[in-house]
Amino acid sequence: MDKKVSIIGAGNVGSSLARELFSMGLADIVLLDIVEGLPQGKALDISQCATFNAKAPRIKGTNDYADTAFSDLVVITAGASRRPGMTRDQLLEINAKVVSEATSKVVQHSSDAIIIIVTNPVDVMTYLALKISGFPSKRVFGLSGALDGARFASFISEELNIPAAEIEPCVIGEHGQNMIVIPRLTMVQKNPLPKITDKITIEKLIKLTINGGAEIVAHLKTGSAYYAPAAAAASMVKAVLNDERKLISCAAYLNNDYGMSDIITGVPVLLGRSGIMQTVNIPITSAEQEALEKAVQATRDTIAKLNL
Ligand code: APR
Repeated sequence: MDKKVSIIGAGNVGSSLARELFSMGLADIVLLDIVEGLPQGKALDISQCATFNAKAPRIKGTNDYADTAFSDLVVITAGASRRPGMTRDQLLEINAKVVSEATSKVVQHSSDAIIIIVTNPVDVMTYLALKISGFPSKRVFGLSGALDGARFASFISEELNIPAAEIEPCVIGEHGQNMIVIPRLTMVQKNPLPKITDKITIEKLIKLTINGGAEIVAHLKTGSAYYAPAAAAASMVKAVLNDERKLISCAAYLNNDYGMSDIITGVPVLLGRSGIMQTVNIPITSAEQEALEKAVQATRDTIAKLNL
């Protein structure tokens, strides 16, 4: 294939993403991990699905960044995942080290790539990767609203018995407890959600969404969600590689957007071949603006702990 995607981290999210991308047949895939044998074994297993796919790409597992050279796009999933009782912020120290190292090595081998960060806390890790890479901000962004929105859509779908694919969710802000779910701008079969259901139901659905990741951690006990994160990340990869120019909420750099600058938070952007083609400033209420500023402040406070 003429396009190449590298995935750093062959754990639950990285390998699920590799499997998603393999079945989509968009690009050749390199799966890299620090653990010897892990990416090789997973890549071999995935490659043996080729007979079930019309357009099977090549996939290689490796521990060597040289194999990622000249990637069009790199997704960083390496790091530790959240354990029960562990907040996203507690992952900070471990994951900052992993993401810094991964970003430097990626840049060394793929200076023109687009980087998508999945490692949590994603708003902070994306800021870190942006600063370390020295790339323009349109080429470094993270997975946030695509996943939170997918969770909101799945809860709406179950509650109202409407296909999730006919729901266009709107979630902005931090990928975490400070996310801002906007029912007013969430379209259900082209109607705003508040026209379809009552306030109490909407409040319940918002709570489920904000707690979506933690609920899965509580069930799994030894890890966090990976199927939906991988599917959401794959939708972002597809939007870029196919130049879809699609509106997707991402952890993106603010530069005079929503009245703020030099920070990463979840906002709707148009994703296409060059990465973020445009950051979309949607009309938000003063309460939503206040919530967004609070989310951004939480991210700034966490970044401050990194002493960049
Ligand atoms: N370089 C490369 N790979 C690394 C490094 C490193 N320095 N450090 C750790 N890894 C690898 C681990 O060996 C492991 O295979 O990252 C992988 C992480 O996989 P999991 O522990 O299964 O975690 P996962 O569920 O995939 O989550 C990864 O995504 O959604 C987020 O919060 C989640 O930050 C977490 C990340």
